[in-house]
Amino acid sequence: MAERWLGTARRIAELAKMHQRGQDIVGRLPAEDVRTQYHNDLSPLGWHLGHCAFIETYWLREVVLGNNAITATLHGVYFPDLCEKAARPELVRGRERLLEWTSAVHKENLTLLANPPDHMRQHRLMGADYLLDFLIQHYAQHLETMHYVLAQRQLRLTGPWTPNSTLTPASRGDEAIHLPAGPVKIGCDEPYAYDNEQPRHENWRASGRIAVRPVTSAQYLAFMEDGGYRRSELWSEAGWAWLCHTRVDCPALWRRSGPSWYEVSAFGPRDLEPSAAASGICFYEAEAFCHWAGAKLPHEFEWEAAAQAGLLQDTGQAWEWCANRFHPYPGFRPLPYEGYSSPWFDNQHGVLRGGSEYTLAPIRRTSFRNFYTLDKRHICAGLRLAWD
Ligand code: AVJ
Ligand code: FE
Repeated sequence: MAERWLGTARRIAELAKMHQRGQDIVGRLPAEDVRTQYHNDLSPLGWHLGHCAFIETYWLREVVLGNNAITATLHGVYFPDLCEKAARPELVRGRERLLEWTSAVHKENLTLLANPPDHMRQHRLMGADYLLDFLIQHYAQHLETMHYVLAQRQLRLTGPWTPNSTLTPASRGDEAIHLPAGPVKIGCDEPYAYDNEQPRHENWRASGRIAVRPVTSAQYLAFMEDGGYRRSELWSEAGWAWLCHTRVDCPALWRRSGPSWYEVSAFGPRDLEPSAAASGICFYEAEAFCHWAGAKLPHEFEWEAAAQAGLLQDTGQAWEWCANRFHPYPGFRPLPYEGYSSPWFDNQHGVLRGGSEYTLAPIRRTSFRNFYTLDKRHICAGLRLAWD
């Protein structure tokens, strides 16, 4: 029991740390930037902090304790499906009030968690610290998204900038490992796992190969310089339609300075590291790169089995697009609410594996599944090649 409580105390401290990260990001911004929507697919930074504090309070107070005194009037602001993105800048509080409010409710939540009344302790969502782990991971996901917003903000702030080195294209060094045919165990049944990772189950894998490392920036530049964005034969029909509509010709955060490319990160402009994973591309671009390279995207199960076996290097620099769509595992049960994953099993969402430089420890695991529609490129995502 003492051990169990130690685990709980550690989780409460982790939750506080996550909240503080959000406070720090918002606290360091000029007040007007807290409510700015920098990108159509992204909410203002202040909304993310308010949403995390709201969700924490909603689950702990409204669901577990049956008390909606704090949250009742805020559903329409902080439940994403009740508040469209474009309306969020108007609804979110100014910086000082937001920092004060989120800090105050969070502090009350910590006090409650440290001394839970019996009926809270016995609530099914509190078993195995499920809700604590859920809230920690929820913060982690939004903190990552806040870094995507910070990168968009840096794009607006950055004037002409000269990199220290010139990125040159690299030929493909496709070091690959052979994956034999056979059964593979997929998913995670640990109490902290998200509903979409469960249940852990067996799958049959066909034999194939997967690249040891993700596609690098230097390799991606080779695709660009070989006319990758101009050759329709490299693109799927949907991908070519997307390209004709958006007319992009490089990853989302790449910028050119004379003969050289650089990238804008959440922390400002920087040189592109030739051997680092390429990022800022959508599924269609990943697919076109594969066609150009004579390869395919790995199925998410190929990715997970190889990662579990310790065969993949350089994971966690950029999320990696997988070949298949986001779907439920056999026997899927929604948790902690119907809408966490189920609405996105719609054949419109791709799966991403691994993690990015902005992904925090609580959601770094081989079974974790991220999901976005195929056109999204504000996320830190790239790809890894595979072959039959
Ligand atoms: C899986 C990253 C697309 O950020 O909208 C956050 C995760 N779900 N709050 C998102 C999520 C509820 C989700 N993504
Ligand atoms: Fe959320």
